[in-house]
Amino acid sequence: MKSFLFITLVVSLFGLTACGGGGSSSTDSSSSSSSSSSSSSSSSSSSSSSSSSTSSAGGSASNLYSLAEFPIGIAVSAGDESRSFLTIPEKQNTIKQHFNQITAGNIMKMSYLHPLENSYSFDNADTMVNWAEANGLTIHGHTFIWHSDYQVPSWMSSYAGDFATMLDDHVTTIADHFKGHVVSWDVVNEAIDENQPNCYRDSLFYQRLGSDYIGNAFRAARAADPSVDLYYNDFDTEGGNSGKLNCLLLLVDDLLANDVPIDGVGFQMHVQVDWPSASSIASAFQAIVDRGLKVKITELDVPINNPYSSAAFPQYPSYTAEAAALQKARYKSIIKTYLDVVPQHLRGGVTIWGLWDGDSWLLDFSNRQGADDWPLLFSGPSNGPYETKAAFDGVVEALTGQ
Ligand code: XIL
Repeated sequence: MKSFLFITLVVSLFGLTACGGGGSSSTDSSSSSSSSSSSSSSSSSSSSSSSSSTSSAGGSASNLYSLAEFPIGIAVSAGDESRSFLTIPEKQNTIKQHFNQITAGNIMKMSYLHPLENSYSFDNADTMVNWAEANGLTIHGHTFIWHSDYQVPSWMSSYAGDFATMLDDHVTTIADHFKGHVVSWDVVNEAIDENQPNCYRDSLFYQRLGSDYIGNAFRAARAADPSVDLYYNDFDTEGGNSGKLNCLLLLVDDLLANDVPIDGVGFQMHVQVDWPSASSIASAFQAIVDRGLKVKITELDVPINNPYSSAAFPQYPSYTAEAAALQKARYKSIIKTYLDVVPQHLRGGVTIWGLWDGDSWLLDFSNRQGADDWPLLFSGPSNGPYETKAAFDGVVEALTGQ
């Protein structure tokens, strides 16, 4: 419930963010823009320069991605967003070194790619995709359909024509454009609201088309690009909120019963350091594995301070050794749970929602009360060089079975 409340706040805050601002509302140069997510599917991608050894000390690794048989992804700011990785050479270097998949934190969302009814805007995403391809990284597409207010193009909100055809065309055009350049997509993001009697969020899309829009989107995506992996993606489904997980399973079962071409479920996993429990996470993953679907951790971050804890907030006003150890153990446990529960052929990958602590989207939220949260795997300075944190070592240790 804590995580649910947190995410609810976060989601409602999205609505306050100006369209086009993307979320990279950076403030100053030392802690700024939000970036974002990721995910993927096929494990075929390999990064460019790949030496795959681990260093001896502290479980560090020279190439994180080389330790996994599945994609290790990173969310990036790109295009016109502040602190785009394409403007910061050290970000590019660190991303190339440790990750083999990219998710655009914002620039492949609806309002960015399809700002006007008869006009798509692919240039920024294409630039990002070209960089990824030139450097041996794959792309996880995020996302064709997302209800969040400023991410829905305003023309779509007032669309008076045949809504189903329009939405099919939207998915088809984007999937077709990126065909061969994207290995997987979050087809629909956050369609569930466990507080609704039938579990469906009362979004623009639901209001116009009922729940059919979800299956329609998967079908359109599959028709446009038969070889891409198709995911349903959501937050707070990783077990702590049983109502939400139950809704997820109802949705997935309905899609499967109707032969909708879904390949997997993306668990965003904007979790807390102490919530939900590893066993809850394991049960949620297991439920998807039991349905023969892939599991992808699409947006992982682990802030140190939990605003919904019964303990006073922030629990760690500074990044102490104790906080670092706690976070390391949590990252390690999450990756270990993933490896323990999800068989290799169903591992869609793991993506971290941002590179270094100052890039985290969490810094934009007032419920953080000004505390830093140090949620990611690297520390700054803002233009690099970035340094691996204990959390990074936790991921390495899990991937190498330590
Ligand atoms: C976030 C971005 O990181 C922010 O920059 C933006 O302001 C809002 O969106 N779940 C998702 C992501 O699926 O798209 C969201 O990304 C984070 C929550």
